[in-house]
Amino acid sequence: MAGTGVFEEIIEGDVFKYYTDGEWKKSASGKSVAIINPTTRTTQYKVQACTQEEVNKVIESSKIAQKQWAKTPLWKRAELLHKAAAILKEHKAPIADCLVKEIAKPAKDSVTEVVRSGDLISYCAEEGVRILGEGKFLVSDSFPGNERTKYCLTSKIPLGVVLAIPPFNYPVNLAVSKIGPALIAGNSLVLKPPTQGAVACLHMVQCFHLAGFPTGLISCVTGKGSEIGDFLTMHPGVNCISFTGGDTGIAISKKAGMVPLQMELGGKDACIVLEDADLDLVAANIIKGGFSYSGQRCTAVKVVLVMESVADALVEKVNAKVAKLKVGPPEEDCDITPVVSESSANFIEGLAKDAKTKGATFCQEYKREGNLIWPLLLDNVRPDMRIAWEEPFGPIVPVIRISSVEEGIHHCNASNFGLQGCVFTKDINKAILISDAMETGTVQINSAPARGPDHFPFQGLKDSGIGSQGITNSINMMTKIKSTVFNLPTPSYTMG
Ligand code: G3P
Repeated sequence: MAGTGVFEEIIEGDVFKYYTDGEWKKSASGKSVAIINPTTRTTQYKVQACTQEEVNKVIESSKIAQKQWAKTPLWKRAELLHKAAAILKEHKAPIADCLVKEIAKPAKDSVTEVVRSGDLISYCAEEGVRILGEGKFLVSDSFPGNERTKYCLTSKIPLGVVLAIPPFNYPVNLAVSKIGPALIAGNSLVLKPPTQGAVACLHMVQCFHLAGFPTGLISCVTGKGSEIGDFLTMHPGVNCISFTGGDTGIAISKKAGMVPLQMELGGKDACIVLEDADLDLVAANIIKGGFSYSGQRCTAVKVVLVMESVADALVEKVNAKVAKLKVGPPEEDCDITPVVSESSANFIEGLAKDAKTKGATFCQEYKREGNLIWPLLLDNVRPDMRIAWEEPFGPIVPVIRISSVEEGIHHCNASNFGLQGCVFTKDINKAILISDAMETGTVQINSAPARGPDHFPFQGLKDSGIGSQGITNSINMMTKIKSTVFNLPTPSYTMG
């Protein structure tokens, strides 16, 4: 149960505390933010509504702690990260339970998220030891006009205070995908969790606390976006922002100061299906890619572009699998669970209604109870329908029938998003040509889009993001190159 056992100190009364200076504290605001359980639609938890004054103090402590942390040997930083990973995995059950109640993630997937997060932290420690332990050595005589009189040594240095803002759909995993790289690289970390998922994040932070990280190095502030959101992202004490979420990221990128940004802002991942595709494999991947966690993944299959000649057969296979999806509460490990909020459910419903009005074929009857929306495949979707372009972030998958591969590529590239895409074909030559033509950060051949494994590069083009993630890329992004140049009085050559 949340807030019990080793997590007892993170709650007082019925409100979870925020974390700063190595302590769990109540906000001076005296106010809290309610977290609504998507299944029961009642208040499940409450977190502190932190003030701007408290944010100032958090960032001040974070700055001080970082200076000392940057001087901590790399192997010691790695050791602490390994310890935090082990503690996180040990307490996977209560953290997963928070995910079930805050974001209605199916029980088994919630446990997987926590375990995956522990593995991610350990991999960060190992990769950091490898890549931060080495730099470059350059000599000047490789550039025209220069003698060999300059030796340049480069190393990677931390940026300072990293602000991490993960989204509701992977509050723990996408928090540690920012925390791990930041800490191993010698930065301090301020976490602003999403409202739905905040309590799971606070439990995860307690695992770092129990691992014994220095005071002030990690902080977690909760509160209303309207009160502390812009204040945090525009704070002069923040040296780097790593954000995953929706449109808010575009606003952040316009307001943030001159600091490195890492952003992942969603996608409209296309699934292009050729005539020679293995349709059973495609159908299984549409189910996994389009409907897992009820479609609430940036990398979900969000539009199927299938060649007309195989469209009937594919739709029939997908429909047979949709009929077998279990719909219900996350506690019962159902495949389709309530979407995160009523406003999200209303938005999804709006897309379905628009498609109905404009003549899409509903392969299943549209059904909704509260935030629970039954899985729906929409056939014969046309470009004039909103669902052809917008991200439902729900269990609705549109199918557009195409008469040429070029039509599919054109639809994919006309999107303002460019996160991932996938192509199903047995012809590897065609797969490569199509992959090269798709304007997305990643193209999966014969599998649904996915971010993992977590050490793979993960990036979006266009409105899907800035920079590249994945463990190695994130560590590099959260560091800066520092050079020291030795100027010699005379050219010097190392002789064999
Ligand atoms: O929606 C977040 C995005 O990072 C998806 O991750 O692991 O479901 O592909 P994943």
